[in-house]
Amino acid sequence: MNPKQLVGEKATTYIKDGMIVGLGTGSTAYFAIMKIGELVKNGLSIKGVPTSKATEELAISLNIPLLAIEDVVKIDVTIDGADEFDANKNLTKGGGAALLREKIIASVTDFYVIIADAAKGSQFLGSFAVPVEVTAFGKEITIAQLKALGCIPKLRYKEGELLLTDNQNYIVDCKFEKIENPAQLSAQMNALPGVVENGLFAGMANVIISEDGKGSTITID
Ligand code: A5P
Repeated sequence: MNPKQLVGEKATTYIKDGMIVGLGTGSTAYFAIMKIGELVKNGLSIKGVPTSKATEELAISLNIPLLAIEDVVKIDVTIDGADEFDANKNLTKGGGAALLREKIIASVTDFYVIIADAAKGSQFLGSFAVPVEVTAFGKEITIAQLKALGCIPKLRYKEGELLLTDNQNYIVDCKFEKIENPAQLSAQMNALPGVVENGLFAGMANVIISEDGKGSTITID
């Protein structure tokens, strides 16, 4: 089985009847959502909370009942992917540009399950550029301020156009070297007025489900 499908399906074992479930974004979360769709078809009763417009569309196509974000107070379990994870379960997310909604949903989640193939794990974050969601207004100023924090910033484009997030903001991918203190760096970035949110998820994951490259899952808790 493809490693993304392996970890995605394994994560759904945390879901129980009656739960409110955060639905992640990306090619790994896709497999978890497909499995949830199958479980719902077979009688599982849950309500999903999507972390992006793309995930919302997928969930609707699978007849997964959804809870409007205005009605969310607390989420029992969220299953989401990551672009990189370190030895302390800190994450870099936002490769798919959904980091703001993902972090809002993670912040009200009781049990946050991350699914990631083995290649995404390392001792320290830093291989993957940290996606940062910034306002359109003053983006050049914000980019200069991010650069002053020690990264090489790059505004993200898609198909030749500046990428607009689901929230109508831009993404700046910030390439740092080794990130030894993700919580501190996250706070420094979020202190900049033009930063809406950044893709470092420090101390948020309860468990990471990864795999050994030979078809077995590894649970890091
Ligand atoms: C979306 O913005 C991201 O945070 C994804 O969760 C992350 O990029 C992982 O995506 P893949 O599972 O596609 O690698």
